Amino acid sequence: MSCVLGIETTCDETACAVVEDGRIVRSNVVRTQIDLHQKYGGVVPEIAARAHIEWLNDIVATAMQIAGVTAEDLSGIAVANCPGLVGCLLVGVSAAKALAFAWDKPLVGVNHVHAHLYAGCLIPPQGRDNASAVWPDPPALPALGLVISGGHTTLYEVQRFDSLRRLGSTIDDAVGEAFDKVAAILQLGYPGGPLVENLARDGRANEVKFPLSLLGKQSLDFSFSGIKTAVLYHVNGQGGAQRTSADLTPQQRADTAAAFQRVVAEILEVKVRRAMEVMTPRSLIVGGGVSANACIRGCLQRVADAAKIPLYLPPMAYCTDNAAMIAGLGSQLLESGGRADLDLSAIATA
Ligand code: KG4
Ligand code: ZN
Repeated sequence: MSCVLGIETTCDETACAVVEDGRIVRSNVVRTQIDLHQKYGGVVPEIAARAHIEWLNDIVATAMQIAGVTAEDLSGIAVANCPGLVGCLLVGVSAAKALAFAWDKPLVGVNHVHAHLYAGCLIPPQGRDNASAVWPDPPALPALGLVISGGHTTLYEVQRFDSLRRLGSTIDDAVGEAFDKVAAILQLGYPGGPLVENLARDGRANEVKFPLSLLGKQSLDFSFSGIKTAVLYHVNGQGGAQRTSADLTPQQRADTAAAFQRVVAEILEVKVRRAMEVMTPRSLIVGGGVSANACIRGCLQRVADAAKIPLYLPPMAYCTDNAAMIAGLGSQLLESGGRADLDLSAIATA
């Protein structure tokens, strides 16, 4: 049995987890900083980094206690070292190096975006304890991977989890960023994705038409900035803020949210279908914060069903940022010989 400790501090969640044999989550502790950043309407990097420094030691200790492991039981330490806010990354990377050195354990750096894809392979603790639960085998490879998060919207060909080939990516906003900006236009608050989804529940998606931006017939890239601008004009009026979302009726606001969510889901669906024609995957794996969205989950399930391949979606707790996905992918990397030295860098872009 192998137990890997994972550390995640790329943005505004301070997280630590222990994962057994690359899949079974023994503990997954996430402390969100939402309340620290809410009044600024977005993440303030300096505040985020300072909170990571204050909280991380306790969170590591708690994750190990819940998992029932001591340093001796660990087979390695995995840390998200890219991409992210550099001051935040540095906190996790420094802590992981110190622990690896003090406990004499192998260290590995994990790409946070790639780890989002791995989240769909994890088995939650209640799954392990439920003897009658049947957990699917790991995804058959090659798989088509789609990461939809606050910072990334990317399609990958997954030959192995340590070798991903990028097929397409956003040329402007990430899909989660578009949700957050639409939430700001509708004056819903931060982070916007779940708030837009909630509002959309009462909305009629066909009442408003936003552009289906596909970037040409073959493209596997994404663009969401045009839709965001279309929402802005729809709510505020053309040529400056003549009105705000407060001037819309509750039904009009809900219709706007539903129409936006629908067009985003349609774009993701079209791009996934196109990518399936390019690489004939044996499974579809989706991860990232936006994969928590029920409308988008349903839409992707229909695409996978039509292609007759299994869809791997993370359990809700592993959609947004967490350290279980870092420990899980880290286990795979360690097993295939991945090792970092104590000069492992924090890299803001990847
Ligand atoms: O993966 P994540 O936690 O962080 C990054 O790596 O970026 O993703 C956060 C993003 C935010 O933009 C948030 O608004 C979005 O995921 N999100 C959602 C939902 N839950 C989180 N977007 C749409 N619907 C949701 N239910
Ligand atoms: Zn993330």
